[in-house]
Amino acid sequence: MAFSLAGLVFCSGLCFSSAFLSSRRYRNPVPLFPSVDEHWFDQKLDHFNGAESRVWKQRFFINDTFYDGGPVFLMIGGEGPANPAWMVSGTWLRYAEKLKALCLLLEHRFYGKSHPTEDMRTANLQYLSSKQALADLAHFQTVMTQKLKLSHSKWVAFGGSYPGSLATWYRLKYPHLIYAAVATSAPVYALINFTEYLEVVQTSLADYNSECPKAVKSASDTLVMMLKKKENYVKITEDFKLCEILQINSEMDSAYFLETLAGNFMDVVQYNNDNRAFEGVKGTNITIQVLCEIMADVSLGTPYDRYAAVAHLMMDALEMKCMDTSYKKYVQEMTSATWEGPAAVGGRQWVYQTCTEFGFFQSTDSTNQPFSGFSLSYFVQQCTDIYGPEFNFTRIVNAVGQTNEMYGGFNIQSSRIVFSNGCVDPWHALGIIKDLSEELPAVYIKGTAHCANMYPARADDPPQLAAARLYILSLLEKWIN
Ligand SMILES: *[C@@H]1O[C@H](CO)[C@@H](O)[C@H](O)[C@H]1NC(C)=O
Ligand SMILES: *[C@@H]1O[C@H](CO)[C@@H](O)[C@H](O)[C@H]1NC(C)=O
Ligand SMILES: *[C@@H]1O[C@H](CO)[C@@H](O)[C@H](O)[C@H]1NC(C)=O
Ligand SMILES: *[C@@H]1O[C@H](CO)[C@@H](O)[C@H](O)[C@H]1NC(C)=O
Repeated sequence: MAFSLAGLVFCSGLCFSSAFLSSRRYRNPVPLFPSVDEHWFDQKLDHFNGAESRVWKQRFFINDTFYDGGPVFLMIGGEGPANPAWMVSGTWLRYAEKLKALCLLLEHRFYGKSHPTEDMRTANLQYLSSKQALADLAHFQTVMTQKLKLSHSKWVAFGGSYPGSLATWYRLKYPHLIYAAVATSAPVYALINFTEYLEVVQTSLADYNSECPKAVKSASDTLVMMLKKKENYVKITEDFKLCEILQINSEMDSAYFLETLAGNFMDVVQYNNDNRAFEGVKGTNITIQVLCEIMADVSLGTPYDRYAAVAHLMMDALEMKCMDTSYKKYVQEMTSATWEGPAAVGGRQWVYQTCTEFGFFQSTDSTNQPFSGFSLSYFVQQCTDIYGPEFNFTRIVNAVGQTNEMYGGFNIQSSRIVFSNGCVDPWHALGIIKDLSEELPAVYIKGTAHCANMYPARADDPPQLAAARLYILSLLEKWIN
């Protein structure tokens, strides 16, 4: 697994199933909706060097069905291909209908079909950063304003997960361009040792049943013990349906294996019971309840056996025949620099951004969570193993510090940004969950996960989720009119 974005993210055009996410999902790209027309924008390679004149083609999508002199809604793409499913459904389109808005979705540089360079060799990834992405938005907005004669329109940024952070920072850094922002499940504070992630996973499991994280801890501890003896490897290989006989030659091998298994729980908690199925994501009926029922089912054997049953269920849901647990293979895949490479859907790019901007490493360094065996040093070493020796710990510490220096972390001085988060979602730990001021309101939704309010509404949505969507609409109406 790997990215741990299990993290992240992927809400808009992203919340792509987890980009921030997890390499397992990277191997199962979301089917796209080819019926929506693609458009291409001539974008600058480097916004911060006046002597650099190279340009490239950035992909974007338009929906003008509801446009009738209202605002312009700009959905910000994130760490995966921009999914045109968002151009035909999603809550922002309901808002567009009410406010007669024009809807645009700009794919993030280096993801999907937006390729600024001929490949992704590490030297070329210097042009991949949130700062360049914000400047892309600014240039796109400026040119489109002229081209489509929109100089009298107010622009509103939308984004979920990492793009939610970008929506916040776009409003913060380019207030002369963007009038308001809806930042969903946005981690605004960069953090290397993101131990809170697994702490929230524990809380979210315990909220269903306090025994659940205890059974997970017991299983995880058993596995760690078993990994110490080579004679257990054949049994573990069979129990977890590994693609090759387990080999543990280093701390990195065992950490990768343990993180992959923990990833089953991390992903389910992050996306619990949401409506991502509209984007074509598989396995969305596997919820915290389903996992915790398995972990409580003594008829399946010991907690270790139940942990294996969870792994089987997830493999079935994702239509995987076996589980890859080779760290070496993972690094090989992540090192491939071609646009057709196995991690080119977003893994290579996103992990680069974590190593050079955000950290967000979901380590087991807190004792207040049920997993073990993948410490901060495991994530830090990935940066050097994948991108080269200069991407070392010192450099990551500096880079993450610089990110917070540039954007202010939790200390946001702005206006007309609404932040929404779900209590179940581990990412809320790095987001804004209380009003910062009257002009910077927050919505903290009980019982929902990552980016829940962005997905199309369902009849059985909890009332507080429906209320959150309406509240955000009321803010937009107040701000725009
Ligand atoms: C725009 O969104 C509406 C409402 O979801 C949908 O019916 C329409 O097909 C979309 N138009 C385009 C061009 O995608
Ligand atoms: C989820 O849905 C799939 C396909 O519809 C079904 O085969 C599977 O049994 C469901 N799993 C759960 C846990 O409900
Ligand atoms: C990571 O954070 C945890 C909890 O705050 C702390 O106990 C641990 O020492 C940190 N790890 C490192 C390597 O700094
Ligand atoms: C980390 O890399 C930098 C160059 O990027 C180098 O100056 C520094 O000595 C390295 N630190 C360690 C601990 O290896």
